Amino acid sequence: MTNSNAKGAKVTSTSTAFQDEFARASEAAEFIRQKIKVQPKIALVLGSGLGGFADELQDATVIPYAQIPHFPATSAEGHAGNLVVGKVDDVPVAAMQGRVHYYEGHSLLRVTFPVRVFSRLGIKAAFFTNAAGGVNLQLEQGCLVVLKDHINLQGSNPLIGPNDDRFGPRFSDMSEAYAKDFRALALKEGKRHGITICEGVYAAVSGPSYETPAEIRYLRTIGADTVGMSTVPEVIVARHCGIKVLAISCVTNMAAGILNQPITHAEVLETGARVRGQFVALLKSLIPRMAETLS
Ligand code: HPA
Repeated sequence: MTNSNAKGAKVTSTSTAFQDEFARASEAAEFIRQKIKVQPKIALVLGSGLGGFADELQDATVIPYAQIPHFPATSAEGHAGNLVVGKVDDVPVAAMQGRVHYYEGHSLLRVTFPVRVFSRLGIKAAFFTNAAGGVNLQLEQGCLVVLKDHINLQGSNPLIGPNDDRFGPRFSDMSEAYAKDFRALALKEGKRHGITICEGVYAAVSGPSYETPAEIRYLRTIGADTVGMSTVPEVIVARHCGIKVLAISCVTNMAAGILNQPITHAEVLETGARVRGQFVALLKSLIPRMAETLS
């Protein structure tokens, strides 16, 4: 059923749950706005091992997630749990040092809350990084993969529930979830830095167990190049809010059954640490290029 709320915006439900979500995101955005000196243009969501990049921002304001109204607090190893707002080469950015995952037991509404806060902050683009397993046999441990598309196998969608038209439309287009111009920039800048980089399709699973070899053969058959446990819910919500997206995975390990060895979280963190320098160089050179495309 379609109703109008106090501001006259259409809310496709009689429930107030999503009206509350808009109010919650607005409250968090207002809290952040009071603390920061610059209006961020790009959101950075930094996955396992890359959170340290936020420490390099100029004129930074560090806001622990725990202080931000309604913000979910992270528990995963390798994720600091701060929002850092500062500049990269004069481009104001808001960087998340770590994110919460579905496998931690948060609802997808909680997992994607920060993206809605970014939207309420007026941010127009988001850059996600993550660790992923290599499914495509041509990939190698340590290479970077620019997401050209994804397959959502998490078993749910963060937009399930009443739609609030103030965020975006009921049925959200996903035919170019990952902006073509951002992808081209990422490949170009990556090559310029001598980084092993390519494009691929990311399959999102819930985790937290890693996949079985049979599941990896299935993922390869359906067209996945990499597999991971994050990013896709946030990308769905970012697109719903009209935020332009770039996402890059670091292949921290070859997926289950490819090499004759078990997959460990330690290996994921180790490879992430080994590639960190390259990833940071790429982030630094991409952010100004991405900003140029935004009006
Ligand atoms: N599977 C799922 N998620 C991951 C992996 C993997 O092999 N590596 C890093 N994140």
